[in-house]
Formats: sequence, C-alpha cells, structure tokens
Amino acid sequence: MWKQAIDEAVSRVKVNIGRYKGQFPHVGIDGGDYQLTHNTDWTEGFWSGLLWLSYEYTGDEAYKKAAVGTVESFRNRLEKNINLDHHDIGFLYSLSSKAQWIIEQDESARQLTLQAADVLLKRWRPEAKLIQAWGPQGDPVNGGRIIIDCLMNLPLLYWAYEQTGDPKYKEVAALHAEKSRRFLVRGDDSSYHTFYFDPANGNAIRGGTAQGYEDGSTWTRGQAWGIYGFALSYRYTNNVKFLEASRRLARYFYEQLPRDRVAYWDFSAPVNAETKRDSSASAIAAAGTLELMEHLESSHPDYGYFAGQVTQSMRSLVENYSTGSDPQPQGLLKRGSYSVRGGASPDDHVIWGDYYYLEALLRMEKGLKGYWYEK
Ligand code: GLY
Repeated sequence: MWKQAIDEAVSRVKVNIGRYKGQFPHVGIDGGDYQLTHNTDWTEGFWSGLLWLSYEYTGDEAYKKAAVGTVESFRNRLEKNINLDHHDIGFLYSLSSKAQWIIEQDESARQLTLQAADVLLKRWRPEAKLIQAWGPQGDPVNGGRIIIDCLMNLPLLYWAYEQTGDPKYKEVAALHAEKSRRFLVRGDDSSYHTFYFDPANGNAIRGGTAQGYEDGSTWTRGQAWGIYGFALSYRYTNNVKFLEASRRLARYFYEQLPRDRVAYWDFSAPVNAETKRDSSASAIAAAGTLELMEHLESSHPDYGYFAGQVTQSMRSLVENYSTGSDPQPQGLLKRGSYSVRGGASPDDHVIWGDYYYLEALLRMEKGLKGYWYEK
C-alpha cells in the first residue's frame, strides 16, 4: 500500500514541476490549486524537499534538475536578503541546499547552508537566552517570544556545529530547545504554541497561541512540531530530556485523535460536523514519531504502541485524505489547515503537509529520512 501511495505522490510532483515553472507552492486557495510564490515565504523549502525525496526514490534526473533550480533560487534569496528576518531559515535551507549537500556532496551547497545557519544565529537574543521567532529585534510584542515550530529550525544549527566544530551553534540550539521543553511542554503533555519572555532578562511571562483555538489550547500542528523537533534535538545532543519530551508529546497526540486517526486542527476545539482538520499535523506527527522510534529500543513499552499509531494514521491519510490517482489536484493531501483561527486556507492543501506525508511514506518503505541530519 505504501509503494502505491509513493508512486502516486512522485508522479504528481513531476506533473507539478511543469505546472509551477520555477515558482513555489505555498498553500491551497479555496480548496483548489496552490498559491505560488517567488521564494518569499517560510514554506518554499518543502517544495525543494519534495523534489529531492522524489529524486532519491526514483533516480529520475528531472527531479534533480528542478531541485537544483530551487537551490539557485535560495542562493539568490540569501544574497539579496529576501525576507529572512525570522526563525524559519531552518525549514528553508535544510530541505534545499542542505539536502543537495547530503545527496550530492556539493560544496557550494554546503557553503550556502552554513551561511544560512549564520543568518538563523542572528535571531539569538543573549539577554533572554532564546531564538526570537518573529519580528525585528526589540519588537514590543514578539521581542521575547518563542514558538514550538522553531524546534524544526534547530537542526540547521546543530548541523553547522558538526560541520565547523564551532560550539556556538550547538550551544544556542540546545539552550533554545531546553527553554522550549521547560515552558512549551505542559505537565499533562500538551503544549503551548508560543511563550512570551521579558526580552531584557528572559523572565517568563505567559504562554499563548497564534494559530491555535485559544491561548491555553493545544494546536495540533504545534504538538506535532514538538514531537519531531525534540526527537531531533535528542539525536544531536543525547540529552534524554528531549527524548522524553518527544515521547510524552507523541503519546498525548495519539491519545487525543478522533476515530479516523487524523487530527482536527486543535485538540481543544469543539468538535462538530464543521470542525476543520489538519492533515499536515498528522503527517508531521507520523514522520516525527518514526524519528522518535529510531531512538527507542523495540522492547520499550511505547514502541509497539507508536508503531501501531503511525500505521493507522498513515493508512487513513492514504485512504481518506490523499489525492490518490486523481490527475487534477496539485496537492498530495487534502484537508490541511494553515490558520483556521485566522481564516487562512483552513481546509486546503498545504505544502508542508505534502512534504511530511512523502517523508513518512519513504521512511516506512525505503528508510529515507529527509534532510534534517546526515546519516
Ligand atoms: N510554522 C508555521 C506553521 O506551522 O504554520
């Protein structure tokens, strides 16, 4: 079953190369085609990642040619400093230039990725000891704000440490991960999307949300970013607190799922016939749980539970949420949500959902693990 789903996915990616003509898919509009960008948002790395995954799976040079083209676009973006003053540099460059380095051992791609790591490092705020997610330094609202999504940006810094031996990259990443663990993960294993600190001294202020149902709710995609992000911080640091955080978040995630094993957009949102899903949250959680399981002994009491949950979620995504063999849609997954709260693409394709869906399928079928770390 996974093989057929992968074959359908990579076929659609190939058709989309011709449809996008060098632009980048972002989120679907009104249940239809993707809005395309000129590499100016936080999401463009996912299209690169889809191309690199498709190339690794098929060996077809058409994917590689398109993927290399995206890396050139990322080089231009860095040279011209186009919308890079945010923390999502890890999403952008891990799946584009870092992927090219991992697959091709291309030195210029490695150098570009190291430059990107330095851009991300500029978001570190030493007084508060955190990576500021959004807005300029000194921003009155966001100056001391972290968000759980940032855990997926940290691998770029850990990787830069491995490449250069300069400890500053790893220290910053590990300190940020620990702050995220202490303040974003709650006692019942749910999570805040964001947390505010005093930018002058790092004193904790309060938890909150940006895309979730309410400040104290658990935005399902945030919980999924945490599952995967803490597992990756464990891989790079061997700090068992990160592994435990990932495991706890994963248990909570699967214990809250509805009958069809695919998440609604927020675990605290009232459920009725109108409640939106976020298929991307389940795709991220599946890929992240497969990473988590890499670090658990198969005799661990949760190992079999997680294996079963990932299989059930992925089966439901394939059978109930994928676009399958229908030739028309651009996206791989239906029923993702960008921001239900903000009314932005609440029931649409979202490009990160497509990326993690294919990554999870390829982890299960082929042992390909994406580009968050070198094997
Ligand atoms: N990282 C932004 C989002 O998940 O919507």
